[in-house]
This record gives sequence, structure tokens and C-alpha cells, in this order.
Amino acid sequence: MAASRELRLVRKELVVDLGARSYPIVIGSGLLRDGELIRRHLAGRQVCIVTNNIVAPLHLAAVRDTLPAQDLDVCILPDGEAHKTLDSYAMIIEHLMSHRHNRSTTIIALGGGVVGDVAGFVAATYQRGVAFVQMPTTLLAQVDSSVGGKTAVNHPGGKNMIGAFYQPRLVVADLDTLATLPDSDYRCGLAEVIKYGVIKDRAFFEWLETNVDALLRRDTAALSYAVLTSCSTKAAVVAADEREEGVRAILNFGHTFGHAIESLTHYECLHGDAVAIGMVMASDLSARLGLLARDQARRIKELLASFDLPVTPPGNLNAEAMQQAMGMDKKVLNGRLRLVLVRALGDVFVTDSFDHGALLATISAGGRLCDG
Ligand code: NAD
Ligand code: GLY
Repeated sequence: MAASRELRLVRKELVVDLGARSYPIVIGSGLLRDGELIRRHLAGRQVCIVTNNIVAPLHLAAVRDTLPAQDLDVCILPDGEAHKTLDSYAMIIEHLMSHRHNRSTTIIALGGGVVGDVAGFVAATYQRGVAFVQMPTTLLAQVDSSVGGKTAVNHPGGKNMIGAFYQPRLVVADLDTLATLPDSDYRCGLAEVIKYGVIKDRAFFEWLETNVDALLRRDTAALSYAVLTSCSTKAAVVAADEREEGVRAILNFGHTFGHAIESLTHYECLHGDAVAIGMVMASDLSARLGLLARDQARRIKELLASFDLPVTPPGNLNAEAMQQAMGMDKKVLNGRLRLVLVRALGDVFVTDSFDHGALLATISAGGRLCDG
């Protein structure tokens, strides 16, 4: 209990260690109102907050009130993955131009992964790159998308097809913002949290198995621990391989299946839900290939299901379309599909060498784990 109280009260800080481009991830309560923290990371006087029409009425005032009103403006995007597009990118650029933002401006992304990815891509490219601060307001963005510098917009032909690696100079994960998050989006963040347990941290996976109720209640101590543990794994992986030339690819566990499901459902299936289904399919494939014990594949599926995450793809997905969509993934290298497979809880690897018949069997089984 003492440990829980401590977690509730203490602000945590991690560093993504990238030499001169290192930056802090600050996790805690009341951070959006911490003007001193934010001002320390601004490049100059000008600031543009990019947010969306859902987050603005909930959380914009807290940030805006802490910053000097002069030279501050706000660009509000329409909500949703459907707007993670070049049109939204162009809308922000137009906004920056019309408000005469110069190279010493700072773009603050206040919102979920969609706002962060689009605003980050603008920050990477506006006048060849301006300062960028991430203020993630969804669980998914706090544990994943705001950390590591991947920025992108979607193309009708595939997800995240246009983007850049561009690191923020600060990530502010204010846990208070999660109180307003709808259950469906909160659950999506839990999918990425579970991912960290499977890819690198068996003890964390087991902690999650015993803390389902606390996390579903959004208990602050449990959430602090989950966000902190997830971010520290992500920070370590990014520090080891910033541009995904090697180990960083493990962060995409379940994502090649998931991205295909998102594309094929025209983004009606949310990212976290699609990743949950993808993790079940990647575990099933690992079991079919004899790499992963079936009871461990089952535990992954059961943990996802206990958080009310979907574990089978939408019924109308056809196996051939799914295979084709997976072939469009950025993980395809020299024409060969690469997948993250599991050897054991906490131990995954990336390979382009697997039996494609087993992959087809996994896709056709549609999330039903092989038990033969
Ligand atoms: P999202 O940004 O669409 O947010 C989900 C919903 O929650 C939206 O409707 C949003 O407006 C709303 N919302 C945000 N904060 C809220 C709050 N505090 N209270 C109430 N509502 C709130 O989706 P997401 O799940 O945050 O992120 C998914 C996106 O992130 C996808 O585009 C995915 O590709 C991307 N992503 C990027 C990376 C990366 O490394 N860059 C990693 C993982 C995912
Ligand atoms: N979400 C995958 C990555 O950041 O590499």
C-alpha cells in the first residue's frame, strides 16, 4: 500500500537516450498545467498547439492557460484516423504559414496518436524541421506513439506510408487526461501495454495478469506503473535502434496483421483493437511453427480478452485480401514479408523465414488458436 501511495504522488521522469537529441518523458498528475516544465522546452516565443475537436474542449485550456498568450495559437483538426492524411498535414502547414510561424517556433501535439503522428510529421518538415513537444492524452499515445520519433500520415494504399523519424524534445504524459478517455480507446492503449510484456518483459506480463481489475478501474497507482514500465521498455529499444534497422522492429509485434486489418476495415477497427487481434495471430503462427508453447499463446489471448480486447478479426475479412494487405506493410523488405514471432513470453524475434502455409493457416483460422 505504501508503494501505491508513493506512485500516486511522485512524478516520474525517464530519458530517451539519443545523445544530443535525448529527451525526457515526464509521467504524472497535473502536468498539463506545469507551465514551467513546458516553457523550459520551447525553442522560442512562438508556439502552435495542434489538437482536435474532441480533445480541445477537454484539455486545451489547461495547457493554454500556462503559456504566454502572445505568440500562441491553436490548430484544431477533425477527429479520427480517417483524418491522419495529407489534407490534415496541409491544413496545419497553412495554419503555420498564415500565422507567420518561423523556424524557432514550437509545435505542441495535444491529443492521441493521430494528432501526435500528423503534428510530428509537420514538425519534421515545416521549414526543414522545428521544435516539437508531445502531450499525449490517450493511453496508447502515452505508452507508445509519443515516444520514439515515428511520425506519419496514411495513404489510401496503406497506413503510415508517408512520414519521417523526428524526435520530440519533451514528452508530457499527464495521467489525469486519461480520466476522460472513452473505454474503447482506453482498452486500445492496454493492447500496446500488453505488447511490452510479450516482447521483452515476462514479469510485467505476469504483473498485468494479476492487475486486470485495477487497470480496468483506471487505478492511478496501477496506471502509473503500467505507463512507466511501458515507456522505459520503449525508450530502451528506441535508444538501441532509433531508425528501426534492427531490434526496434520487435515493437511491431502484431502490427503487420493489425495494419492489414485496419486498412481492410477502412480504419473502422481501431488501431489498438487491430493490434490485439494481430498479437493473437502472431502468437498462433508462432505456435503453429512449433516456436511457442500453446499454453503461452493461450495466455496472451486470454490476457487480451480479459481487458475486453477483440481477439478474432471482423468476420468479413477474406484471407486472400488479408495476405495482400500484409504485403503492403513497411516491414516488407526486398519483397519479403518480415514478422515478429514469439519464442516465449518476453522473448520475440523478427524473421522473414517462415512457412507461408502456416501463415495462411493462421489467417484462415481467424484468431482461433491451433490446438493440434
Ligand atoms: P486517436 O488519436 O484517434 O485517439 C483516440 C480517440 O480518443 C480519438 O477520438 C481522440 O480524439 C480521443 N481522445 C484523445 N484523448 C482523449 C482524452 N483525454 N479524452 C477523451 N478523448 C480523447 O488514437 P490513439 O489510439 O491515441 O492512436 C492511434 C494512432 O497512433 C494510430 O494512427 C497509430 O498508427 C498511431 N501510432 C503511432 C505510433 C508511433 O510510434 N508513432 C505507435 C503506435 C500507434
Ligand atoms: N510503435 C512502433 C515503434 O515505435 O517503433
